[in-house]
Amino acid sequence: MSMRFKLAFIGFGVVGQGLTEILLEKKDMLAEKYDFHYVVVAVSDIMKGSVYDENGLNMGEILSLVKADKKLDEYPSGMKDMDSLATIKDTNADTIIEVTFTDVKTGEPALTHIKAALNAGKNVVSTNKGPVVKQVMDLLKLAEKNNVFYGFEGVVLAGTPVLNLAEYTLAGNKITGFKGILNGTTNYILTRMEEGMSYDDALKKAQELGYAEADPTGDVEGLDALGKVVILSNVVLGKNIGWKDVERKGIAGITIEDVEQAKAEGMRWKLIGSAEIQKDGSLKAKVWPQKLPLSDPLAGVNEAINALTFDTDELGPVTVVGPGAGRRETGFSLLIDLLNMNRKLSE
Ligand SMILES: NC(=O)c1ccc[n+]([C@@H]2O[C@H](COP(=O)([O-])OP(=O)(O)OC[C@H]3O[C@@H](n4cnc5c(N)ncnc54)[C@H](OP(=O)(O)O)[C@@H]3O)[C@@H](O)[C@H]2O)c1
Repeated sequence: MSMRFKLAFIGFGVVGQGLTEILLEKKDMLAEKYDFHYVVVAVSDIMKGSVYDENGLNMGEILSLVKADKKLDEYPSGMKDMDSLATIKDTNADTIIEVTFTDVKTGEPALTHIKAALNAGKNVVSTNKGPVVKQVMDLLKLAEKNNVFYGFEGVVLAGTPVLNLAEYTLAGNKITGFKGILNGTTNYILTRMEEGMSYDDALKKAQELGYAEADPTGDVEGLDALGKVVILSNVVLGKNIGWKDVERKGIAGITIEDVEQAKAEGMRWKLIGSAEIQKDGSLKAKVWPQKLPLSDPLAGVNEAINALTFDTDELGPVTVVGPGAGRRETGFSLLIDLLNMNRKLSE
């Protein structure tokens, strides 16, 4: 029997709006092809305000308000001023889309949001890395205990499917390790350096294009990639590691001379996040700049594109290449989760 999900957005920035566009444009296709039916009952954003209508909101109108920089209070009906926790607990939503900003040190406020939702017996889909880095196994257990779904495909490589690929499509393989280009900003910088640009100019260009933050430390020092190595190690390789278990070096020390020399050797520098299960069962995990031969599939991945190679026992290396960020690209990762949820809960 098909169900109609009642969705609530917690946070309504770039990614929340990206998913909304996809849901609106593909509504008929999602119903016909995947038997996925939904209504959005609430949106709660700390800056944009909040609105709740148990019968469903007109999301086209919500998008227009937000795009015109107006507050959700101007929506003509519904209840206003419900904060994130009230929206999670006190509405008729059955599925919470958690897309607030990421804090990988504490996981907050997303961790509190996700726990509250799972404890209230509500499904969660989220692109937020923080809670996954901090407590993924606890959250998955909590979801299981409450008989609900927790999906987070977008926390690594956005909508380019890697977590689902490992769990479902590659099921039956032993995955013994991975290596990947897990950060688009640093790959963009290295690509420009390959064309002769200095590190400083390439970083400036990445900032102008909105890839790098004003404070680029998280990207160039490899912290963002490190979070993803922790997630992949725990979720795909079944380990239980934290920040301190990953060796790390960023790309700030790479000079144009290093890049030229690699070129002369038929090699290319990439910032690689990797982990490998050792013979004794321990894990060797790191984020480190590496010179790859041009024959390596990762060496051919340029610009802000990401890629990940899984080492499998049946197929050897399997590589997936695609976007690792972006409005619709990350919004789409939530659609992957929603469709999976629909499949699981309709069984
Ligand atoms: N953009 C990407 O390409 C991408 C890729 C992969 C993963 N992600 C992850 O996806 C999530 C969403 O990203 P985004 O690009 O959409 O970020 P964003 O544009 O900054 O949107 C986040 C929104 O959530 C709001 N918010 C923060 N705390 C809140 C709270 N306690 N209650 C309600 N609303 C709250 C923010 O308000 P303020 O404006 O006040 O902060 C903002 O409007 C992040 O965790 C990000 O790391 C993004």
